Amino acid sequence: MNNISNKRKNGKTAPRSIGILTAGGDCPGLNAAIRAVAKSAMHYGIQVVGFLDGFRGLVENRYIRLDDSTVSGIITLGGTLLGSSRDKPHKMNMGGSIMDMTDVAVANAQRLNLDCVVCLGGNGTQKNAYRLSQKGLNIITLPKTIDNDVVLTDTCFGYDTAKCIATEAIDRLHTTASSHHRLIAVEIMGHSAGWLALGAGIAGGADVILIPEIKYDIHAIADYLTARRHRGKRFSIIAVAEGALAVDEKPEDDDDDNDEAKSQKKNGKQNGDKKSDDTKSDDAKSDDAKSDDKTSDESPKLPQKPIMIREPKVSRIVRELQELTGIDARMTQLGHVQRGGTPTPADRLLCTRLGAIAGELIAARQYDVMVAVRGDDCVPVPLKDVAGHVRTVPEDHPWIKTARLLGSCMGDVP
Ligand code: F6P
Repeated sequence: MNNISNKRKNGKTAPRSIGILTAGGDCPGLNAAIRAVAKSAMHYGIQVVGFLDGFRGLVENRYIRLDDSTVSGIITLGGTLLGSSRDKPHKMNMGGSIMDMTDVAVANAQRLNLDCVVCLGGNGTQKNAYRLSQKGLNIITLPKTIDNDVVLTDTCFGYDTAKCIATEAIDRLHTTASSHHRLIAVEIMGHSAGWLALGAGIAGGADVILIPEIKYDIHAIADYLTARRHRGKRFSIIAVAEGALAVDEKPEDDDDDNDEAKSQKKNGKQNGDKKSDDTKSDDAKSDDAKSDDKTSDESPKLPQKPIMIREPKVSRIVRELQELTGIDARMTQLGHVQRGGTPTPADRLLCTRLGAIAGELIAARQYDVMVAVRGDDCVPVPLKDVAGHVRTVPEDHPWIKTARLLGSCMGDVP
């Protein structure tokens, strides 16, 4: 696949080709980062391929060549031209069976003579990339996530754009909440870390900010809102991280290995929902076979058993606060809107800085690192120190102090 001469550096073969993949939940900035890594690598005469749909593309040997024309004009584009997935090489669903495909992933990269695989992703990706590095692949990662919860880096790309989207939503909710003298709660992404809800909550001037790191007491919030009303404030905005926890709640198991279970739970596929084929009894399978017995022009049938839908956290909060305060309340879930659209200039700049340094590190054959942000600099940090850790908001973080000083309620008893 390459016709580049075999350059030598420090007596060793200089890198000639690399792969890039984007894994985990997408975010604005991925294309800008792909562009930056590819252009920077090409600057050093290195050829680039992009694996499709995250680690699955590496396992299934599905890739495209990335050249100057492929990566031109994409800095503004949301999503990822390579596609993404939450697949993990060591536990991959291959035609219905969960298999360890790590060796296949490594063999595919070696067959393509890749000197390095650059993995763009959040905490799950850092872990999966580290596993591949332990199996012999040269890896470089970039920190990507709207959750901003990767360790050893000041920030992650995608966060700024999502923060802008969530802040704009809070701004818009302010005007309608004000017109109707309502309480409006907005759910913002972030399961185990509250950076997004905290950042957007402060920037949008939310009155109450609930993050997973500070357990909330619904009665304390109700008292705060009632006191606010007595002071003549006729509306309130609550920014709720999706992982916010009441004092009597325990966090969900956030182990990335349980992604599938988490996603089923999120979609309400628990208690009484259809089991997967692997776990069904033979009787149940034959029951399904009967119910699946339909002519080809019939439209697919809905599941027979009711699906239990979990009440979203924000809905529970709004319901309880309306009951406790008597204030007319509404809720909004921003959901994947936060991950869509064009990256902000700050994210484009960040992706470009990170990607450029990734190219430089590849040329220097400095592998098994994540490119981290430190102030105006981008520096390599050992991947082994990143994998398996989550950067939550420290309780004494200056932003929390800022929110409290401005009179925002953080959900706890003051
Ligand atoms: O990737 C981070 C994230 O956006 C979280 O904030 C959110 O909880 C999760 O992904 C949603 O994942 P999915 O797109 O798989 O529903």
